[in-house]
Amino acid sequence: MHITVIGSGYVGTTIAACFADLGHEVTAIDIDEEIVNTLNDGRAPITEPGLDDLLETHAGDRLTATTSYDAVPDSDVTFLAIGTPSNNDGSIDLSALEAAAEATGDALANKTDRHLVVIKSTVTPPSIPATLEPAIHSGANENDAIEVGMNPEFLREGSAVTDFQQPDKLVFGTQSEWATERLHNVFEPLLEHHDAPVVETDPETASMIKYANNAFLASKISLVNDLGNICKEFDLDAYEVMDAIGLDDRISERFLRSGVGWGGSCFPKDVNAIIAAAQAVDYDPAVLEGTVEVNDRQPNRMLECLMSHVNPEDARIAVLGLAFKPNTDDIRNSRAIPVIDALQSRGANVAAYDPVAADEMSHKFPDIEYAESAADALEGADGALVVTDWDEFSELDEEFDAMATPVVVDGRRCIERRNGIIYEGLTW
Ligand code: UDX
Repeated sequence: MHITVIGSGYVGTTIAACFADLGHEVTAIDIDEEIVNTLNDGRAPITEPGLDDLLETHAGDRLTATTSYDAVPDSDVTFLAIGTPSNNDGSIDLSALEAAAEATGDALANKTDRHLVVIKSTVTPPSIPATLEPAIHSGANENDAIEVGMNPEFLREGSAVTDFQQPDKLVFGTQSEWATERLHNVFEPLLEHHDAPVVETDPETASMIKYANNAFLASKISLVNDLGNICKEFDLDAYEVMDAIGLDDRISERFLRSGVGWGGSCFPKDVNAIIAAAQAVDYDPAVLEGTVEVNDRQPNRMLECLMSHVNPEDARIAVLGLAFKPNTDDIRNSRAIPVIDALQSRGANVAAYDPVAADEMSHKFPDIEYAESAADALEGADGALVVTDWDEFSELDEEFDAMATPVVVDGRRCIERRNGIIYEGLTW
């Protein structure tokens, strides 16, 4: 098949490269010439394991990038993968996606045979009929040959390529059997190698599945954090408790790690967006509001643990880990941000360390110290807060002996050494 993918950000680049790898001919369309050139050179504009290899193999062959929408009418299906960032009230900003939807409709204005435009971007259910369908049809003079579908993605940063290749499920939100069939054709080569259930539904339900999926996972973590905070107050180990409840297969053992909470580009944005969308129709989603509230609370609980041993004012406090999770330099909504804010507001001198994310964080906090290693950050420190579970932190040992006061607050349960230091687990 010939597939056009509009938008070459994180999702667009990943699916374009993976579609090409499935054997399709792919045209990646982006307004940014630099991104287009990078893709045509066979390089990824983002860091994601496996992506560079796929692009090196397929760029210039099955994958071409361009700024022009000319390829759209000749393709069999078009995927819209444009970012939907958060507005201040938590709702999503559809402007860039709407513009791309209109440009796609314009490009299809003279096409008379059926064409499927599939939304990959995360959008709330009401925005499909209210904003996106009209945008796609406006450009095409209400060309009813165009059908709109929704195919949400569930990729995790750091494993996006394998998540694409080995999905737990595929969700096809369409308005006709023809469109469902077309999506089956797109994913057929994948399903030949990997058996995954395909959920066939309408576009709005498909979009709600995406929000429900992420809201459920974020709420699961907030629930274990809430229970974990209670465990800490009772002097109990939340991990011992969660290991036991995870044996109930209705609960499952995954996503039960309590600590300083969730960050990243998806959970915060999506949970806030579905709350805002619910409030817009006068429904207050109490559990989801609590999910956000508990997450906001965890960084402060870290500070409270620290302050039960050290006064942060004028103290040197090491912050270990800045990325929102290990194996990425992404700091979007990282828990390190509220942790550093809270330390600074209490007059602490922050010495931060992360194996890859320090550069990113230095734009946000230009005035703190960025240490070259965990050992440098810990040297002479009066306390340490462990925010990201990088593997290398589990090996820290005598580095703690160089601290002025060896108070270590672990927000991820990744520090192995417990003896000879004052060790506080956040929920254990
Ligand atoms: C997530 C979803 O997993 C993915 O399906 C969706 O498409 C995008 O959002 P991602 O943001 O890449 O993916 O990260 P993920 O590995 O899910 O972790 C999210 C956050 O939750 C991280 O900050 C992580 O540290 C935290 N987390 C995860 C916990 O605190 N405890 C856990 O048990 C699991």
